[in-house]
Amino acid sequence: MKVDVLLGLQWGDEGKGKVVDVLTPKYDVVTRFQGGPNAGHTLEFEGKKFVLHNIPSGIFQGNKVNIIGNGVVLDPIIFKQETDELKKQGIDLTEKLFISKKAHLILPTHRILDAASEAAKGKTKIGSTLKGIGPTYMDKTGRNGIRVGDILNDFDKKYAALREKHLQLIEMYGFEYNLEEYEEGLKEGIETLKQFTLIDSELELNRYLKNGQSILAEGAQGTLLDIDFGSYPFVTSSNTVCAGACIGMGVPPRSIGEVYGIFKAYCTRVGAGPFPTELFDEDGERMRKNGNEFGSTTGRPRRCGWLDLVALKYSVMINGVSRLIMMKSDVLSCFDTIKIATAYKIGNDVVEEFPFELPEGLEPVYKEMPGWNCDLTAIKSEDDFPAELKNYIRFIEEETGVPITIVSVGPDREQTIQIEK
Ligand code: IMP
Repeated sequence: MKVDVLLGLQWGDEGKGKVVDVLTPKYDVVTRFQGGPNAGHTLEFEGKKFVLHNIPSGIFQGNKVNIIGNGVVLDPIIFKQETDELKKQGIDLTEKLFISKKAHLILPTHRILDAASEAAKGKTKIGSTLKGIGPTYMDKTGRNGIRVGDILNDFDKKYAALREKHLQLIEMYGFEYNLEEYEEGLKEGIETLKQFTLIDSELELNRYLKNGQSILAEGAQGTLLDIDFGSYPFVTSSNTVCAGACIGMGVPPRSIGEVYGIFKAYCTRVGAGPFPTELFDEDGERMRKNGNEFGSTTGRPRRCGWLDLVALKYSVMINGVSRLIMMKSDVLSCFDTIKIATAYKIGNDVVEEFPFELPEGLEPVYKEMPGWNCDLTAIKSEDDFPAELKNYIRFIEEETGVPITIVSVGPDREQTIQIEK
């Protein structure tokens, strides 16, 4: 059996949670492989709405196995809040959620370091979610980190030593903080983690594959936030691309099957950094309002703009996307004309490939297409798509060379049109 990978092709917030939930019935196991609580995966069904940060989005479909893989960074405080909230809603995870012993822990002092580092950057700040992601991955690659498996053996002593190092660093930044507030809930979070089965997830996952069970790898953030291929330095600190699934789960590249690439019918970005098709006018405001484009982790308004095919083609290439999934098509229903960037004008050059840098003054070259101008939210089949939407889909398929096999027309699980191709 293979590992199918599902990941974002833009700057995150493409709607991965909803699609994982829709696809989970086809799989035996769902695994997160990178990122941490900087993610906010939203799922809506039966009139209820859930936002998951650390926990894979496969937990709502029966008793599927859900795994937090070794590539994830896990905050025990947020993990406890999340599991408590789900328990209140009648969802007990202890039987179906398993956590890699090799996942690294986000500690309170990582969050302080994140805040101190952002504050020190001033105008050049990344716009981090301040969840401690960067400092935790820095400790991982710097070989100082504490892993989930370490909570079984002298955690307090290990934390005390690392905390000391962190506090010295924070002092160098001259950053003011209240340690007690940051550490509130840590002990309880660690105790909650101990109630879960901590596993050697790479061994388990390879066993599942050998036994013919199917795995869905759930990406977080998006390709354009990847530490290597994103718009550096305005990126997150993990490999969000398909290859990151092999590292973050311990499965061989040969085991990868389908690569589902998710994108919105337009673009959004939260936090700082270049965004070639960003709109600062009425159209951008309409996208934000219609699409409810406010961060599910931080509540920040998301920046909005037209679909960027230069960036999308780059993401398709890096990930080897085999199937495309287009989200939030309904949000564009209010536009008479829809634009798609097919190239960038940089100085006197017209560039069709995603460049090393996205400089100020870059101008997107747009193709204009007629909008569908009608409500899509009650559509149940591809046959009922308006001709303009079919055109939009066909154009993207021709440009990327990849079929669009799911089109989302609203936030609910039911508003998902699967297309046989
Ligand atoms: P960090 O990963 O919290 O350090 O944030 C780094 C950059 O990635 C910031 O611009 C964030 O806004 C962005 N980012 C991180 N996680 C997400 C996500 O799940 N969705 C969208 N943007 C994200």
